[in-house]
Amino acid sequence: MSVLKSLALSAIAASSALAYAPQLGFNTPPVVETRTLDQIHEAALKEGGTVTVWHGGDEKTQQDSLKTAFEARFPGMTLNITVDLSKYHDINLDRQLATKNVYVDSIILQTLHDYPRWKDEGALLNYKPVGFENIYEPFKDEDGAYMGFFVFAWSNIYAPKSANGSAPKEYTDYLKPEFKDKLVLTYPNDDDAVLYQFDLIMKQYGYSWFESLLAQNPRWVRGTATPVSLIGASNGTYTATFTSSVGTSAPPGFNISYPVDGTFTSWPQTGAILTDAPHPESAKLLHNWILSPEHQAASGTWTVRKDLPSPEGLPGILDMPGTDATKFAKWMGDRAAVERLRFFFEDKIGSAQGKSPLTDDL
Ligand SMILES: *[C@@H]1O[C@H](CO)[C@@H](O)[C@H](O)[C@H]1NC(C)=O
Ligand SMILES: *[C@@H]1O[C@H](CO)[C@@H](O)[C@H](O)[C@H]1NC(C)=O
Ligand SMILES: *[C@@H]1O[C@H](CO)[C@@H](O)[C@H](O)[C@H]1NC(C)=O
Ligand SMILES: *[C@@H]1O[C@H](CO)[C@@H](O)[C@H](O)[C@H]1NC(C)=O
Repeated sequence: MSVLKSLALSAIAASSALAYAPQLGFNTPPVVETRTLDQIHEAALKEGGTVTVWHGGDEKTQQDSLKTAFEARFPGMTLNITVDLSKYHDINLDRQLATKNVYVDSIILQTLHDYPRWKDEGALLNYKPVGFENIYEPFKDEDGAYMGFFVFAWSNIYAPKSANGSAPKEYTDYLKPEFKDKLVLTYPNDDDAVLYQFDLIMKQYGYSWFESLLAQNPRWVRGTATPVSLIGASNGTYTATFTSSVGTSAPPGFNISYPVDGTFTSWPQTGAILTDAPHPESAKLLHNWILSPEHQAASGTWTVRKDLPSPEGLPGILDMPGTDATKFAKWMGDRAAVERLRFFFEDKIGSAQGKSPLTDDL
Protein backbone atom coordinates (compact mmCIF):
# COMPACT_ATOMS: atom_id res chain seq x y z
CA MET A 1 0.00 0.00 0.00
CA SER A 2 1.31 3.43 -0.85
CA VAL A 3 2.11 5.97 1.84
CA LEU A 4 -0.44 8.34 0.38
CA LYS A 5 -3.05 5.61 0.32
CA SER A 6 -2.43 4.56 3.88
CA LEU A 7 -2.69 8.21 4.88
CA ALA A 8 -6.02 8.34 3.11
CA LEU A 9 -7.22 5.30 5.00
CA SER A 10 -6.08 6.59 8.36
CA ALA A 11 -7.81 9.89 7.60
CA ILE A 12 -11.02 7.97 6.89
CA ALA A 13 -10.67 5.91 10.04
CA ALA A 14 -10.13 9.05 12.08
CA SER A 15 -13.35 10.63 10.92
CA SER A 16 -16.60 8.77 11.35
CA ALA A 17 -18.29 11.35 9.14
CA LEU A 18 -16.17 10.21 6.23
CA ALA A 19 -16.12 6.52 7.06
CA TYR A 20 -18.98 5.71 4.71
CA ALA A 21 -18.01 8.18 1.98
CA PRO A 22 -16.72 5.56 -0.48
CA GLN A 23 -20.08 3.72 -0.26
CA LEU A 24 -21.83 6.90 -1.32
CA GLY A 25 -20.29 6.31 -4.72
CA PHE A 26 -17.58 8.96 -4.58
CA ASN A 27 -14.91 6.43 -5.34
CA THR A 28 -15.75 5.58 -8.92
CA PRO A 29 -13.57 3.02 -10.74
CA PRO A 30 -10.58 4.67 -12.43
CA VAL A 31 -10.54 5.31 -16.15
CA VAL A 32 -7.38 3.79 -17.63
CA GLU A 33 -6.02 5.78 -20.55
CA THR A 34 -5.31 3.83 -23.75
CA ARG A 35 -5.23 6.65 -26.31
CA THR A 36 -2.10 8.13 -27.88
CA LEU A 37 -1.08 11.73 -27.14
CA ASP A 38 -2.27 12.69 -30.63
CA GLN A 39 -5.72 11.23 -30.00
CA ILE A 40 -6.04 13.03 -26.66
CA HIS A 41 -4.80 16.22 -28.34
CA GLU A 42 -7.72 15.98 -30.80
CA ALA A 43 -10.21 15.58 -27.94
CA ALA A 44 -8.62 18.52 -26.09
CA LEU A 45 -8.93 20.82 -29.10
CA LYS A 46 -12.65 20.01 -29.30
CA GLU A 47 -13.00 21.28 -25.70
CA GLY A 48 -11.65 24.67 -26.74
CA GLY A 49 -7.91 24.16 -26.46
CA THR A 50 -7.27 25.71 -23.04
CA VAL A 51 -6.25 23.94 -19.84
CA THR A 52 -6.19 25.86 -16.57
CA VAL A 53 -3.55 24.67 -14.12
CA TRP A 54 -2.56 25.78 -10.64
CA HIS A 55 1.07 24.92 -9.97
CA GLY A 56 2.86 25.25 -6.65
CA GLY A 57 5.97 27.42 -6.64
CA ASP A 58 7.38 30.77 -5.66
CA GLU A 59 8.15 32.67 -8.85
CA LYS A 60 5.48 33.73 -11.36
CA THR A 61 7.67 32.62 -14.25
CA GLN A 62 8.74 29.33 -12.70
CA GLN A 63 6.61 27.21 -15.06
CA ASP A 64 7.08 29.25 -18.21
CA SER A 65 9.21 26.51 -19.71
CA LEU A 66 6.44 23.97 -19.09
CA LYS A 67 3.96 26.27 -20.84
CA THR A 68 6.28 26.93 -23.79
CA ALA A 69 7.10 23.25 -24.26
CA PHE A 70 3.46 22.12 -23.99
CA GLU A 71 2.17 24.73 -26.42
CA ALA A 72 4.96 23.95 -28.91
CA ARG A 73 4.27 20.23 -28.67
CA PHE A 74 0.49 20.56 -29.03
CA PRO A 75 -0.46 23.24 -31.57
CA GLY A 76 -3.72 25.00 -30.80
CA MET A 77 -3.41 24.39 -27.05
CA THR A 78 -2.99 27.08 -24.39
CA LEU A 79 -1.56 26.19 -20.99
CA ASN A 80 -3.19 28.72 -18.68
CA ILE A 81 -0.87 28.12 -15.75
CA THR A 82 -0.75 30.09 -12.50
CA VAL A 83 2.14 29.65 -10.07
CA ASP A 84 1.55 30.45 -6.41
CA LEU A 85 2.60 28.98 -3.09
CA SER A 86 0.90 25.58 -2.77
CA LYS A 87 -0.32 26.62 0.68
CA TYR A 88 -2.37 29.39 -0.97
CA HIS A 89 -3.47 27.44 -4.05
CA ASP A 90 -4.96 24.72 -1.85
CA ILE A 91 -7.17 26.99 0.24
CA ASN A 92 -8.34 28.79 -2.88
CA LEU A 93 -9.20 25.46 -4.46
CA ASP A 94 -11.13 24.56 -1.31
CA ARG A 95 -13.18 27.70 -1.86
CA GLN A 96 -13.94 26.65 -5.45
CA LEU A 97 -15.03 23.26 -4.19
CA ALA A 98 -17.16 24.72 -1.40
CA THR A 99 -18.95 27.09 -3.76
CA LYS A 100 -19.24 24.42 -6.48
CA ASN A 101 -17.50 26.74 -8.89
CA VAL A 102 -14.54 24.67 -10.08
CA TYR A 103 -12.74 26.40 -12.93
CA VAL A 104 -9.32 24.82 -12.44
CA ASP A 105 -8.72 21.67 -14.47
CA SER A 106 -5.46 20.43 -12.98
CA ILE A 107 -3.46 21.03 -9.82
CA ILE A 108 0.25 20.27 -9.29
CA LEU A 109 1.14 21.00 -5.66
CA GLN A 110 3.57 20.46 -2.80
CA THR A 111 0.84 20.20 -0.14
CA LEU A 112 0.70 16.40 -0.33
CA HIS A 113 -1.56 16.17 2.72
CA ASP A 114 -4.45 17.73 0.78
CA TYR A 115 -4.77 14.96 -1.78
CA PRO A 116 -6.22 12.12 0.35
CA ARG A 117 -8.75 14.58 1.79
CA TRP A 118 -9.76 15.87 -1.65
CA LYS A 119 -10.06 12.28 -2.84
CA ASP A 120 -12.37 11.44 0.08
CA GLU A 121 -14.48 14.46 -0.79
CA GLY A 122 -14.87 13.15 -4.34
CA ALA A 123 -13.08 16.21 -5.71
CA LEU A 124 -10.49 14.32 -7.78
CA LEU A 125 -10.92 12.31 -10.95
CA ASN A 126 -9.84 8.68 -10.69
CA TYR A 127 -7.74 8.51 -13.83
CA LYS A 128 -4.65 6.56 -14.82
CA PRO A 129 -2.57 8.18 -17.54
CA VAL A 130 -0.46 6.06 -19.88
CA GLY A 131 2.55 4.79 -17.90
CA PHE A 132 0.73 4.98 -14.54
CA GLU A 133 1.81 1.43 -13.69
CA ASN A 134 5.44 2.56 -13.93
CA ILE A 135 5.16 5.36 -11.38
CA TYR A 136 6.85 4.36 -8.10
CA GLU A 137 4.16 2.85 -5.85
CA PRO A 138 4.62 5.27 -2.91
CA PHE A 139 4.16 8.24 -5.24
CA LYS A 140 0.64 7.39 -6.41
CA ASP A 141 -2.89 6.74 -5.27
CA GLU A 142 -3.98 3.25 -6.29
CA ASP A 143 -7.13 4.60 -7.95
CA GLY A 144 -5.21 7.24 -9.89
CA ALA A 145 -6.83 10.15 -8.01
CA TYR A 146 -3.35 11.74 -7.66
CA MET A 147 0.25 10.89 -8.49
CA GLY A 148 3.77 12.29 -8.49
CA PHE A 149 4.88 14.16 -11.62
CA PHE A 150 8.43 15.30 -10.84
CA VAL A 151 10.77 14.83 -7.90
CA PHE A 152 11.71 18.10 -6.24
CA ALA A 153 14.68 18.13 -3.87
CA TRP A 154 16.82 20.63 -1.97
CA SER A 155 20.54 20.31 -2.59
CA ASN A 156 23.58 22.16 -1.39
CA ILE A 157 23.95 25.02 -3.86
CA TYR A 158 27.02 27.23 -3.82
CA ALA A 159 29.01 29.61 -5.98
CA PRO A 160 32.39 27.85 -6.02
CA LYS A 161 34.30 30.96 -7.09
CA SER A 162 32.92 33.03 -4.22
CA ALA A 163 32.99 30.19 -1.70
CA ASN A 164 36.75 30.28 -2.15
CA GLY A 165 37.11 26.57 -2.68
CA SER A 166 34.96 25.64 0.29
CA ALA A 167 32.37 23.14 -0.94
CA PRO A 168 29.57 22.37 1.55
CA LYS A 169 28.40 18.78 1.64
CA GLU A 170 27.06 18.01 5.10
CA TYR A 171 24.86 20.43 7.08
CA THR A 172 27.63 20.81 9.63
CA ASP A 173 29.80 22.37 6.90
CA TYR A 174 27.62 25.49 7.00
CA LEU A 175 28.88 26.14 10.52
CA LYS A 176 32.44 26.71 9.26
CA PRO A 177 33.89 30.24 9.54
CA GLU A 178 33.92 30.76 5.75
CA PHE A 179 30.11 30.71 5.70
CA LYS A 180 29.71 33.44 8.30
CA ASP A 181 27.45 36.16 6.80
CA LYS A 182 27.44 34.20 3.51
CA LEU A 183 24.31 32.05 3.73
CA VAL A 184 20.91 32.80 2.24
CA LEU A 185 18.12 30.60 3.58
CA THR A 186 14.38 30.48 3.11
CA TYR A 187 12.30 31.04 6.26
CA PRO A 188 11.37 27.54 7.44
CA ASN A 189 8.18 29.01 8.88
CA ASP A 190 7.11 30.19 5.40
CA ASP A 191 7.45 26.94 3.43
CA ASP A 192 6.72 23.46 4.78
CA ALA A 193 9.27 21.75 2.53
CA VAL A 194 11.95 24.00 4.02
CA LEU A 195 10.53 23.40 7.50
CA TYR A 196 10.90 19.67 6.85
CA GLN A 197 14.56 20.21 5.92
CA PHE A 198 15.23 21.97 9.23
CA ASP A 199 13.34 19.24 11.08
CA LEU A 200 15.50 16.55 9.46
CA ILE A 201 18.72 18.40 10.27
CA MET A 202 17.80 19.15 13.88
CA LYS A 203 16.63 15.58 14.50
CA GLN A 204 20.14 14.55 13.51
CA TYR A 205 22.34 17.30 14.94
CA GLY A 206 20.15 18.72 17.69
CA TYR A 207 19.18 22.24 18.67
CA SER A 208 22.83 23.23 19.09
CA TRP A 209 23.25 22.97 15.31
CA PHE A 210 20.53 25.59 14.88
CA GLU A 211 22.09 27.86 17.52
CA SER A 212 25.42 27.65 15.71
CA LEU A 213 23.67 28.34 12.41
CA LEU A 214 22.10 31.50 13.87
CA ALA A 215 25.57 32.59 14.97
CA GLN A 216 26.55 32.45 11.26
CA ASN A 217 24.06 35.29 10.70
CA PRO A 218 22.28 33.83 7.66
CA ARG A 219 20.05 36.09 5.60
CA TRP A 220 16.44 34.84 5.79
CA VAL A 221 14.32 35.30 2.67
CA ARG A 222 10.90 34.38 1.34
CA GLY A 223 10.66 31.85 -1.48
CA THR A 224 12.95 28.96 -2.33
CA ALA A 225 14.13 30.49 -5.61
CA THR A 226 15.28 33.69 -3.89
CA PRO A 227 18.52 32.32 -2.35
CA VAL A 228 19.87 31.26 -5.73
CA SER A 229 18.91 34.61 -7.30
CA LEU A 230 20.60 36.51 -4.47
CA ILE A 231 23.76 34.43 -4.55
CA GLY A 232 23.96 34.83 -8.32
CA ALA A 233 23.42 38.59 -8.16
CA SER A 234 25.58 39.33 -5.12
CA ASN A 235 29.04 38.65 -6.57
CA GLY A 236 30.38 37.01 -3.48
CA THR A 237 28.38 38.72 -0.73
CA TYR A 238 26.39 35.48 -0.42
CA THR A 239 27.80 32.13 -1.40
CA ALA A 240 25.61 29.18 -0.43
CA THR A 241 22.17 27.82 0.46
CA PHE A 242 20.52 24.49 1.27
CA THR A 243 16.84 25.49 0.92
CA SER A 244 16.60 25.67 -2.87
CA SER A 245 16.59 23.56 -5.96
CA VAL A 246 18.23 24.07 -9.32
CA GLY A 247 17.38 20.55 -10.48
CA THR A 248 20.00 17.86 -10.74
CA SER A 249 22.54 19.87 -12.74
CA ALA A 250 23.98 23.19 -11.64
CA PRO A 251 23.56 26.31 -13.76
CA PRO A 252 26.67 28.29 -14.79
CA GLY A 253 28.46 29.80 -11.80
CA PHE A 254 26.99 27.31 -9.30
CA ASN A 255 27.86 23.88 -8.00
CA ILE A 256 25.57 21.46 -6.23
CA SER A 257 26.15 18.56 -3.87
CA TYR A 258 24.07 16.25 -1.70
CA PRO A 259 24.72 15.25 1.89
CA VAL A 260 25.42 11.60 2.59
CA ASP A 261 25.47 11.55 6.40
CA GLY A 262 22.73 14.16 6.56
CA THR A 263 19.26 13.85 5.06
CA PHE A 264 17.95 16.15 2.37
CA THR A 265 14.33 16.87 1.50
CA SER A 266 12.83 15.33 -1.63
CA TRP A 267 9.24 14.70 -2.62
CA PRO A 268 7.07 13.92 -5.61
CA GLN A 269 5.34 17.13 -6.71
CA THR A 270 1.86 15.71 -7.02
CA GLY A 271 -0.84 16.28 -9.62
CA ALA A 272 -4.55 15.59 -9.99
CA ILE A 273 -7.46 16.44 -12.26
CA LEU A 274 -10.58 17.90 -10.68
CA THR A 275 -13.76 15.82 -10.97
CA ASP A 276 -15.59 18.97 -12.08
CA ALA A 277 -12.79 20.21 -14.36
CA PRO A 278 -14.30 22.19 -17.22
CA HIS A 279 -11.65 20.84 -19.61
CA PRO A 280 -10.95 17.25 -18.54
CA GLU A 281 -9.56 16.08 -21.89
CA SER A 282 -7.12 19.00 -21.95
CA ALA A 283 -6.03 18.18 -18.40
CA LYS A 284 -5.57 14.55 -19.43
CA LEU A 285 -3.41 15.67 -22.34
CA LEU A 286 -1.17 17.65 -19.98
CA HIS A 287 -0.88 14.82 -17.47
CA ASN A 288 -0.14 12.14 -20.07
CA TRP A 289 2.50 14.34 -21.64
CA ILE A 290 4.13 15.24 -18.29
CA LEU A 291 4.42 11.54 -17.46
CA SER A 292 5.61 10.55 -20.95
CA PRO A 293 9.23 9.43 -21.44
CA GLU A 294 9.88 12.48 -23.67
CA HIS A 295 8.92 14.95 -20.95
CA GLN A 296 10.27 13.06 -17.94
CA ALA A 297 13.68 12.94 -19.62
CA ALA A 298 13.60 16.70 -20.20
CA SER A 299 12.44 17.67 -16.70
CA GLY A 300 15.93 18.37 -15.30
CA THR A 301 15.26 16.33 -12.17
CA TRP A 302 14.59 12.76 -11.10
CA THR A 303 11.79 10.92 -12.87
CA VAL A 304 8.86 9.46 -10.92
CA ARG A 305 8.88 6.40 -13.21
CA LYS A 306 10.81 3.27 -12.39
CA ASP A 307 11.19 2.34 -16.10
CA LEU A 308 13.03 5.51 -17.10
CA PRO A 309 16.70 6.47 -16.57
CA SER A 310 17.66 8.73 -13.67
CA PRO A 311 19.61 11.95 -14.27
CA GLU A 312 23.16 11.42 -15.46
CA GLY A 313 25.52 10.19 -12.77
CA LEU A 314 22.79 9.68 -10.14
CA PRO A 315 20.86 6.62 -8.98
CA GLY A 316 17.06 6.57 -9.11
CA ILE A 317 15.46 8.74 -6.45
CA LEU A 318 14.46 5.81 -4.24
CA ASP A 319 18.07 4.53 -4.33
CA MET A 320 19.64 7.94 -3.78
CA PRO A 321 21.68 8.11 -0.55
CA GLY A 322 20.78 10.85 1.92
CA THR A 323 17.06 11.11 1.16
CA ASP A 324 13.75 9.28 1.31
CA ALA A 325 11.24 10.84 -1.06
CA THR A 326 8.38 8.76 0.37
CA LYS A 327 8.48 10.38 3.82
CA PHE A 328 7.44 13.95 3.09
CA ALA A 329 3.77 13.01 2.47
CA LYS A 330 3.51 11.39 5.87
CA TRP A 331 5.26 14.28 7.59
CA MET A 332 2.95 16.80 5.89
CA GLY A 333 -0.05 14.79 7.07
CA ASP A 334 0.66 15.56 10.73
CA ARG A 335 -0.55 19.15 10.67
CA ALA A 336 -0.35 19.56 14.46
CA ALA A 337 3.36 18.68 14.45
CA VAL A 338 3.96 20.94 11.45
CA GLU A 339 2.27 23.85 13.20
CA ARG A 340 4.25 23.36 16.40
CA LEU A 341 7.49 23.36 14.46
CA ARG A 342 6.49 26.41 12.42
CA PHE A 343 5.88 28.40 15.61
CA PHE A 344 9.16 27.17 17.05
CA PHE A 345 10.96 28.88 14.17
CA GLU A 346 8.72 31.93 14.23
CA ASP A 347 9.73 32.38 17.86
CA LYS A 348 13.44 32.05 17.06
CA ILE A 349 13.74 34.09 13.84
CA GLY A 350 10.47 36.01 13.64
CA SER A 351 7.64 35.82 11.13
CA ALA A 352 8.61 35.82 7.46
CA GLN A 353 9.43 39.36 6.40
CA GLY A 354 9.24 40.86 2.96
CA LYS A 355 7.00 40.85 -0.06
CA SER A 356 5.50 37.70 -1.47
CA PRO A 357 8.27 35.85 -3.33
CA LEU A 358 6.06 36.14 -6.41
CA THR A 359 6.49 39.91 -6.51
CA ASP A 360 9.82 40.51 -4.78
CA ASP A 361 11.89 41.02 -7.97
CA LEU A 362 14.37 38.34 -6.88
C1 LIG B 1 -6.83 31.24 -16.57
O1 LIG B 1 -6.57 30.99 -15.20
C2 LIG B 1 -7.03 32.02 -14.33
C3 LIG B 1 -6.54 31.70 -12.94
O2 LIG B 1 -6.86 30.40 -12.57
C4 LIG B 1 -8.54 32.10 -14.43
O3 LIG B 1 -9.01 33.12 -13.59
C5 LIG B 1 -8.93 32.40 -15.87
O4 LIG B 1 -10.33 32.36 -16.00
C6 LIG B 1 -8.31 31.37 -16.81
N1 LIG B 1 -8.54 31.78 -18.21
C7 LIG B 1 -9.16 31.01 -19.08
C8 LIG B 1 -9.24 31.56 -20.47
O5 LIG B 1 -9.62 29.91 -18.82
C1 LIG C 1 32.42 22.65 -9.14
O1 LIG C 1 32.00 21.78 -10.16
C2 LIG C 1 32.99 21.54 -11.13
C3 LIG C 1 32.35 20.75 -12.25
O2 LIG C 1 31.64 19.67 -11.74
C4 LIG C 1 34.16 20.81 -10.46
O3 LIG C 1 35.17 20.59 -11.41
C5 LIG C 1 34.70 21.69 -9.35
O4 LIG C 1 35.72 21.01 -8.64
C6 LIG C 1 33.60 22.09 -8.39
N1 LIG C 1 34.14 23.07 -7.47
C7 LIG C 1 33.93 23.01 -6.15
C8 LIG C 1 34.56 24.08 -5.34
O5 LIG C 1 33.25 22.15 -5.64
C1 LIG D 1 40.49 32.14 0.35
O1 LIG D 1 41.22 31.06 0.86
C2 LIG D 1 42.60 31.34 1.04
C3 LIG D 1 43.30 30.05 1.44
O2 LIG D 1 42.51 29.28 2.29
C4 LIG D 1 42.74 32.45 2.08
O3 LIG D 1 44.12 32.78 2.25
C5 LIG D 1 41.99 33.68 1.59
O4 LIG D 1 42.02 34.70 2.57
C6 LIG D 1 40.56 33.34 1.28
N1 LIG D 1 39.88 34.46 0.65
C7 LIG D 1 38.68 34.89 1.02
C8 LIG D 1 38.16 36.06 0.28
O5 LIG D 1 38.03 34.36 1.94
C1 LIG E 1 32.97 40.81 -8.37
O1 LIG E 1 33.90 40.68 -7.32
C2 LIG E 1 35.24 40.52 -7.76
C3 LIG E 1 36.15 40.20 -6.56
O2 LIG E 1 35.71 40.86 -5.42
C4 LIG E 1 35.66 41.81 -8.52
O3 LIG E 1 36.98 41.66 -8.99
C5 LIG E 1 34.71 42.00 -9.69
O4 LIG E 1 34.99 43.20 -10.33
C6 LIG E 1 33.26 42.01 -9.22
N1 LIG E 1 32.38 42.00 -10.38
C7 LIG E 1 31.33 42.81 -10.47
C8 LIG E 1 30.50 42.68 -11.72
O5 LIG E 1 31.02 43.61 -9.61
